[in-house]
Formats: sequence, structure tokens, C-alpha cells
Amino acid sequence: MAIGVLTAGGDCPGLNAAIRAVVTRVTAEGEAVVGIENGWDGLMSGTTRPLTRDDVRGILVRGGTILGTSRRDPYVHGEGYESVRAAIEANAIESLVVIGGDGSLRTAVQLQDGGLRIVGVPKTIDNDIAGTDVSFGFHTAVQIVTDALDRLTTTAESHNRVMVVEVMGRTAGWIAAYAGLAGGAEIVLVPEVRYDLDEVAARLNRRHAAGHDYSVVVVAEGTPGPAGNVSSRGVDAFGFDRIGGIGQYVSSELERLTGFESRLTTLGYLQRGGTPNAFDRVLATRMGLAAAELALEGASGVMVGVRGDEIVPVDLGEACGEPRLLDERRFAEAAWFFA
Ligand code: F6P
Repeated sequence: MAIGVLTAGGDCPGLNAAIRAVVTRVTAEGEAVVGIENGWDGLMSGTTRPLTRDDVRGILVRGGTILGTSRRDPYVHGEGYESVRAAIEANAIESLVVIGGDGSLRTAVQLQDGGLRIVGVPKTIDNDIAGTDVSFGFHTAVQIVTDALDRLTTTAESHNRVMVVEVMGRTAGWIAAYAGLAGGAEIVLVPEVRYDLDEVAARLNRRHAAGHDYSVVVVAEGTPGPAGNVSSRGVDAFGFDRIGGIGQYVSSELERLTGFESRLTTLGYLQRGGTPNAFDRVLATRMGLAAAELALEGASGVMVGVRGDEIVPVDLGEACGEPRLLDERRFAEAAWFFA
């Protein structure tokens, strides 16, 4: 029996920790692991390689994924299961560990129709996957944004400016809310909570009038502008809207409404790169171990999910439902500290 492993969708810190855990746990039982390159594309093209314990030594701390990833999808760019059958049979893959976000996991559910056993591992910096309390990648992204907010606060203060910071998160505001709280942002705007820029401007005016004549405003990329998402650059292979641009709108409007100089920083892919923090190294490792054990047991249609401090199997279909949007209690906690 061979167990396949792939990483699909957007990359995030911790992917290599998860791969390392899967390979270590499976090979400890004397079973073979097949690494599939570039997500589902590798399964369609037959681009695979065996992974041994030695192949994953030293990758725990490395960002990205040694297997590569993509947003290509056999049900979008191929003929569904028929496009991956050859690679599955050639490598005698009976079970596949899919390390991915909701789009990748949705594809995985469909592939079971061809008889392939699937075990999912949720990953995304967005933290918006249903069925788990947290996804690995999220806490490292929050740390990256928090470090940026600390730096942007000193330059805002030096120039008496409003610094607007656009962060990722797709349709969820988890990164914005957590990093905004950790970084002491004066304002946080998220897709889940309505806002009024006139009211935001009034808050900043009051703050500056009291002598604190600088502010940091964090805006989640999915925060709607006056007519829905400010800018869409089409959709990606998984059909997700490629959003972004709200930060420029907020920065320009706040400068117009307050008269304060405003500048924009869009953190973009910085939030996805580099080494995972300790929390994500541990979480990704624990998830990889749990997924490997489920695959070894012959489980299918399940995903490992966090419940409190435990990692438990949850129905894979749960991950493919609606995204898990920001809990408004978390936003309310950050809001106590807004301007
Ligand atoms: O899902 C993770 C994520 O980084 C989102 O926060 C962001 O909107 C999207 O991926 C960007 O997708 P891509 O890497 O395809 O540009």
C-alpha cells in the first residue's frame, strides 16, 4: 500500500512540517509515501516522487512546500478522476493525504467517487475552514502582520500620518482582527462587520485632536467597498474571486474626509512566506501525524480538525461548506481599543 501526499491551493507556513510528519509516521510502519508535486497538477501529469524519512529531514522550519503547490484542479483543468487515475494506479496509491484549503478539500471529496481514500489536513492563513477551531498558517500570518504594524506605527507617529494596512484573509477577517488587536490598531475593518467611513473619520479626528496625531487602520482584503468588493481581478482556478484593492479606497477616502496624510501598505504575500512560528510548527506536525494514522487505518472522507487542544477526525464534507467567518466576539474584543 502506498500513501500519497500533496499540498494544494495557496501556500502557507507549516506545510513542510505537515509533510514531514506524514512521511515520518507512515514510513515508521514500513509503508511507502508518494509525494505528488504541485498539488492536483502533479496527479494529473504523473509528477511524483517517493518520499523517505531522509527526504524530510531539516524541512520543519522551512516555509513553502517542498512538493510545490498549484490551484489547478482535475475537475476544472481535466476530466475529473480519469485525469488522475493513471498516476494513482502507477504508484499503487490507495490513500491520499490532501493538505489544502476548502477548495482543495472540495476536489478531494469528489475524487473518492473513483475509489481513492482521502484524508484531509486543513491549511490556510485565512483560518476560514469549517470543521476546525484553527488552521495552521494562521498564527504565523498574524505574527507577520503584527510585526509590520509595530513598524508602521513608528513611521506613522514620526510623520503624523494615517497608515492603512491591507491584509489577506479572502472573505474572512480573522487575520485583520487578531493582528489588529495584537498590533494595537486604532481601527480594524473586516468583511463581517458593517462600517461607515464618516464615523471612522470622526474617530480619527477626535484622536488626533487629543494630540495623538497618527493612526494605524487595518483593512481585511475582503472588506466590501461602497459597491461590494472594491476590485476583483477575476477568479482563480478554484473559482474564488481574486479580491484586493480596498486598502487604497479606504486610504484615499480617509485622507479626503480628515485632511490627514494617509499612506497604504498592502502586505500581500509576505503573510504567506517564510518559516512557521512555533505554534504552527507544532499544530502542523500534530495534524500530519493524526492524518497519517487515519490513512494507515484505512479511513476516508475525513479531515483532521482541532477541537480545543485535541485533534479529532471530522467529516470532510464539513470543511467544504460555507467558510468559517470571523466570530464577532473576537472583533468586539479588538473594538474596545479602537480610536
Ligand atoms: O487563501 C489564502 C490566500 O492568501 C488569500 O488570503 C488570498 O486572497 C489568496 O490566497 C491569494 O490567492 P493567490 O495565491 O492565488 O493569489
